[in-house]
Amino acid sequence: MADESQVAEQEPQVEEPEKPFKVEIVVRRYSSETDSEPYWQSFTVDMFSTNRILDALHQIKWEQDTSLAFRRSCAHGVCGSDAMRINGRNRLACKTLIKDLDITKPVYVEAIKGLPLERDLIVDMDPFFEAFKEVQPFLQASDKPEKERIQSIEDRAVFDDTTKCILCAACTTSCPVFWTDGQYFGPAAIVNAHRFIFDSRDEAADTRLDILNDKEGVWRCRTTFNCTEACPRGIEVTKAIAEVKQAVLRGRP
Ligand code: SF4
Ligand code: FES
Repeated sequence: MADESQVAEQEPQVEEPEKPFKVEIVVRRYSSETDSEPYWQSFTVDMFSTNRILDALHQIKWEQDTSLAFRRSCAHGVCGSDAMRINGRNRLACKTLIKDLDITKPVYVEAIKGLPLERDLIVDMDPFFEAFKEVQPFLQASDKPEKERIQSIEDRAVFDDTTKCILCAACTTSCPVFWTDGQYFGPAAIVNAHRFIFDSRDEAADTRLDILNDKEGVWRCRTTFNCTEACPRGIEVTKAIAEVKQAVLRGRP
């Protein structure tokens, strides 16, 4: 065993700082003012393994091409504004680490599908939020209690998963039914309906179930699981849709 003087003489281990490396990012560009069709444009950026695709986009915008357009706000997976297709999969740019991608090949970045393309990585989110609003995503109760409405831990657990939605649209815009039928409510609207349908304090479950029993409602879902795979919050989207289908058939449990 080493004595105290030997331990004190040991040099502290200092790790070599990581050197930046080149990554090719290929972005699908489009401007309604100048382009008749979208086109792919390649950029090379200096990255560290801890960087994210959002950092790569910032580097392109701030150092190479200020015209690159994309949405982002929190940069930490909370606001839901930077959903995009990265190598063909819907993800949040701020949660996609460079080290988790195969950077021996170019990384392809494009706007989410199924919503009107406005510019570069920006789509018109209005149809998405219209569907969200249609399912009445707010608590409805006729009484006016003096204190908060008490809910048991078990009753709260029933809809815990669907409270985590950040409305990023990654699920809805990964759904092949939504791509071909823009009228379909889409997974995100159903997730947010689920959040209130199964809330024991809410009294409008029947109204929402009627809305979702429409021909553009839950029955459009073909259970492809794309939505569950796309959700950056890990919500079991397909399971939530299945529970709403059951509730349409049998009523809220
Ligand atoms: S369910 Fe998931 S993927 Fe869909 S909008 Fe909500 S957070 Fe985004
Ligand atoms: S920027 Fe807010 S979720 Fe990515």
